[in-house]
Amino acid sequence: MSAFVALLLCAVILTLRKILKVMSQDRKKSTAVIPPGSHGFPVIGETLQFMLSVNSGKGFYEFVRTRRIKYGSCFRTSLFGETHVFLSTTESARAVLNNESGMFTKRYIKSIAELVGDRSLLCASQHHHKLLRSHLINLFSKRSTALMVRHFDELVVDALCGWEHRGTVVLLTELLQITFKAMCKMLISLEDEEELGSLQKDVGFVCEAMLAFPLNLPWTRFHKGIMARERVMEMIEKIIRERRNETNGHHEDFLQQLLAVDNDTSSLSSDQSTKLTDAEIKDNILTMIIAGQDTTASALTWMIKYLGENQKVLDILIEEQSQIAKKASDKPFLLLEDLSEMPYASKMVKESLRMASVVPWFPRLVLQDCEMEGLLYSS
Ligand code: HEM
Repeated sequence: MSAFVALLLCAVILTLRKILKVMSQDRKKSTAVIPPGSHGFPVIGETLQFMLSVNSGKGFYEFVRTRRIKYGSCFRTSLFGETHVFLSTTESARAVLNNESGMFTKRYIKSIAELVGDRSLLCASQHHHKLLRSHLINLFSKRSTALMVRHFDELVVDALCGWEHRGTVVLLTELLQITFKAMCKMLISLEDEEELGSLQKDVGFVCEAMLAFPLNLPWTRFHKGIMARERVMEMIEKIIRERRNETNGHHEDFLQQLLAVDNDTSSLSSDQSTKLTDAEIKDNILTMIIAGQDTTASALTWMIKYLGENQKVLDILIEEQSQIAKKASDKPFLLLEDLSEMPYASKMVKESLRMASVVPWFPRLVLQDCEMEGLLYSS
């Protein structure tokens, strides 16, 4: 199982169009063949089988596993109205993700754009993506990261105190709470328990809808996600309005940094001085809550599971942490600098991320026809 999960770490999905057209066009020039697989039923393709797998206990790995057995490490299918090719060899994953040839671009399925917004980093065109990144990369400054470390530590210490007297702790649920609070503090300084609760519920609906069948009818999961997105947008819009009306408010968060560009563009590059619109800010705040919450909570859950199974590693880790605690007994919380004193913990994090595929799905769109490992991919 772990070998399979590790293999899937490299799984890459390419959205391809008109494969059959290229097969006939390029037949004379190359001996490469189109990837094996099935397009399933007309229009819906294999979307239903994919959804059944996603909603089963095994997740969408089951969909991939059965097809890998039948077709090998590369197979094609049709999902959500488009041809997809799943790749799961290290070499092809490396070629697609490194994208040295410039033949691939990021693109998630259309229904995801309806949920996170078409101005989100996850859905933007290549040029727009570059512009958005130039703004958002600044948010991960040393100062922001230091604030995040401190805040995360506070949340963890607080949670651990509460866990001490509880019989059972469902780790993933608790860690999702912690990471959600951490993301909301870092992005929009939201700390009110009631507002956090309703935002978390709505973000949950959006996440569930991301891999639901994209049918927008009142009783569907997809519809619930779309409705929840509107409520999230309204909440962020309200926060933006309040910030603009404040005369001497002081907030150290991502939103404030993005809004500050409204007032001061003098020290920025030309890309950065094109300020983000409110719609771009709102879509990307939602994107970052989703991107940061689930990934971090799942990664932590896997790490704790692996540590529970490996006493030797746990002992070394405890020893490293105890040394840091002894040196800094007067400090109430961890500092960013303390992380550089944790070489063993850092290795443990990397190894856990290698073993567990926290983000198993890296969709890319093929921009130009190309060949890889004897197979033909068309734009
Ligand atoms: C253990 C934690 C995390 C893991 C394993 C992880 C993993 C990844 C991966 C693999 C991608 C690339 C997806 C692709 O290329 O299609 C990605 C993208 C992204 N992640 Fe994370 N991530 C984590 C935490 C976070 C956090 C905390 C944030 C926000 C504060 C975040 C924000 C993003 C954003 C905005 C993107 C899109 C970047 C772009 O399109 O340029 N992630 N993440």
